[in-house]
Order: sequence, then structure tokens, then C-alpha cells
Amino acid sequence: MTTNAPIRVALLGCGVVGSQVARQLLAHAEDLRARIGRPLELVGIAVRDLSKPRPGIDPALLTADAEALVTRGDLDLVIELLGGIEPARSLLLAAIGAGASVITANKALLAEDGGSLYTAAEQSGVDLYFEAAVAGAIPIIRPLRESLVGDEVLAVKGIVNGTTNFILDRMHSAGVGFSEVLAEAQALGYAEADPTADVEGYDAAAKAAILASLAFHSRVRLADVDREGISLVSQDDIAAAKEMGCVIKLLANCSLSADGRIAVGVHPTMVPQGHPLAAIPGAYNAVFIESRYAGRLMFMGPGAGGSPTASAVMGDVVTAARNRVRGTVGPGESAYSARGITPPGEVESRYYVSLQVTDEPGVLAKVAARFADHGISLQAVRQDGDPVNSRARLGVMTHVAPDSDLRATVAELESLAEVGPGITVMRVEGH
Ligand code: HSE
Repeated sequence: MTTNAPIRVALLGCGVVGSQVARQLLAHAEDLRARIGRPLELVGIAVRDLSKPRPGIDPALLTADAEALVTRGDLDLVIELLGGIEPARSLLLAAIGAGASVITANKALLAEDGGSLYTAAEQSGVDLYFEAAVAGAIPIIRPLRESLVGDEVLAVKGIVNGTTNFILDRMHSAGVGFSEVLAEAQALGYAEADPTADVEGYDAAAKAAILASLAFHSRVRLADVDREGISLVSQDDIAAAKEMGCVIKLLANCSLSADGRIAVGVHPTMVPQGHPLAAIPGAYNAVFIESRYAGRLMFMGPGAGGSPTASAVMGDVVTAARNRVRGTVGPGESAYSARGITPPGEVESRYYVSLQVTDEPGVLAKVAARFADHGISLQAVRQDGDPVNSRARLGVMTHVAPDSDLRATVAELESLAEVGPGITVMRVEGH
């Protein structure tokens, strides 16, 4: 092989992101050659539908046979942008087995079975890069994997799903209900026709698993993430958050518990207005890191979209290509800590509990006693009266408490004659 031999690249998938990657590869060929030291050559693109028009893409590059493409034996890099578990996993493993470094944006696969990919890449002596899998264009994987690898990360908290941030932001600013804003988000193309993965938190949970794995040098999988979506967030919740000086965000929360285990969850969470994550608007993403030595870091930017996500993919392409040119590989899996996962019931948080009560002497004391019985300290209590019906709404902000104690308290409150049905509970960020 001459020193000028091209780095041969195959692309799996040519949708919103894939077509942008193909265009950026072709449009910036000269700069990329200069940055890498050898030219990049796009040798094939696997697609499901060969007949679909793809402006700017040479039809001769297209193939419907992804397996034949990844096993042709002369590839340096394979970029997987298919999404989903299969056939993406088999194709990536085949590409790795054939000696190619791989770049993927596949958060579902990484959260489900990233270990298999890391192991295969290690055995084949190739790279596995996935900057685009979490928070789109935002550089967050490389900072965790490389820049902060000499530090000790204590917590990673993120708004890692743009669809839900758009919906919650609109609910907060326009006073519109969840269903109405969801329809608006679908019309604008933010939300999918089937919005389950976004609104029920599965997308964010996969990203949380990836972030927690990297932050805490352990294997964390989707099944380890305690997950709750935003479909039950109501305008009453939004109003309560405003009263408490907070906004509601779908927060991916990864932190070290006091005993060294990993607490990882995705929940609608009241975030105090002064917190950097409270100000993240619309469909933007942001990731907030607390580390022992660097302190508090914030990363913010577009979390989706063709061009922004392709930017993250292209960063990996250049990095993996540079490694090829030098005959080296970048970092592999770092899971040496092998920390356990804190069971959801033991994860600690502040909570805001909203309940309807009869407005008569002794009720507040009875409610407070239930919290005290479970060792939960109260930080603030608000009461809004409804004098005509002798009812009141109590909003109770707790200090930090384990989830199981909070649940047990709520179960007891539900059985009190003075407490009406429909107690709502929301986590509150901070201490
Ligand atoms: N659907 C995701 C979002 C982007 O709304 O942020 C891809 O993970």
C-alpha cells in the first residue's frame, strides 16, 4: 500500500444523517485529506430502497446488500447509521471481523449490547467511535472518554432528548397541554408519528446508559436505567414548578451513590431556574458534568438533525482515519470499575408532592407526620385554598430522601380520609 492510498469508507444508511455524511465527505474532500494525511474514498452506501431519489449522491455507490458491502475485505471504516439492534449489530460485528474500524450513532445498540462491539473491536485491533449516539452534535462522548479520563466524574445530568425538551418548553411558555404540543411537535417534524421512544423516555434512557458507562468506567445497560417519560406531565405540574421557581425538564441523571454504586434514571424533574440546565430552550440538548477536579462543566447544542449529527460522525471519521494512517487505535472500553447499580428504590432525590386535602384543623399536621414517620424531612410547604369547597391543595417540597421511603409515604397519604385522589410526585434537582 502506498502512503497516499485512500482510506476506504462504507456507509450503512442514507437517511437524514447518512445523506449529510455522504455530502460532507464529498464536499470537503481536500480539507479532509489534509487533516488526515490521506484521501477518504466513499466506496459504497447500503440502503433499503435503491429507487429513492438521493440528490448529490452517485447512484453507482448504492447497494441493497449491506452484508456484502461490509465484508468486501478492503474497507478501513464503516459508518453505521441504520439504527435499531438488527441488522445493525450483525453488520457492525461483520465489519469489525473484516478489519474495519466502525463509527456508529446507534444508541439503542450501544445501550443494549455495547460490550459485544467493544470486545470485537478490541480483538480485531480496530476503533469503535460513537460521538453521534448521544446528544447529536454536542461533543460529549470524547470529553468523557478522553478529556476527563484523568479526572473523577461524580455526576452527569443531561437533557438528551430534543423532542421532549421542545414539548416541555412549549408547555411551560405557552401554557398548552401535552397532547396539543405533541401534535405541534409532530407537525414541525420534531416528534415521530409514533412518539413513544421519545416521550416515554426510552431514547433518553439509552443515552443515559451510555453516559453512565463512560463516566463511571462500568458497563451500564438500558435495563439498568430507571425510566419515566413525560406523557403524564400536566399543566398543574407546570404551574406547581413555576410556583417553586423551577422548570420541568426530562433529566437523564447519572451519579455515584454514597456507597460507590451508580444511580441512573430518566425522569421529568423540576429544575430550579438558576441551574444551567433550566435555561435550555426548544429542541436543544445539554449535558452538565460534575467532576472532582474540573468542577462543573456544561455542554450545549443541537441534539438531532442531519447536518449537526453528521458533524459528530465526521469528527469520528477523521479521528478513526488518522488512527489508520498512524497504524494505531484510540481508546477501547474502560469498564474496570465494574460498579453495581443502585436499585431504584434506594436512589435519593428531593421530591415535590402535590395533594388535595380537606381544609380543616390538624390535616397539615397529619400529612407532615406521614413524611416524618418515614424519616423524610420537609423543605417547604405551600397551600392554596378553595374556601367554597373547604378543600386545599398542598404542595410539599422534601429534602433528599430515598425513592422507596417517598413511595411508602405517598401510599399512606392515599389512605387518609382527608386526602383526595390523584397525588402527584415529581423529582426536584438539587439538595
Ligand atoms: N429523537 C431524538 C430527540 C434525537 O428528539 O432528541 C435522536 O436521538
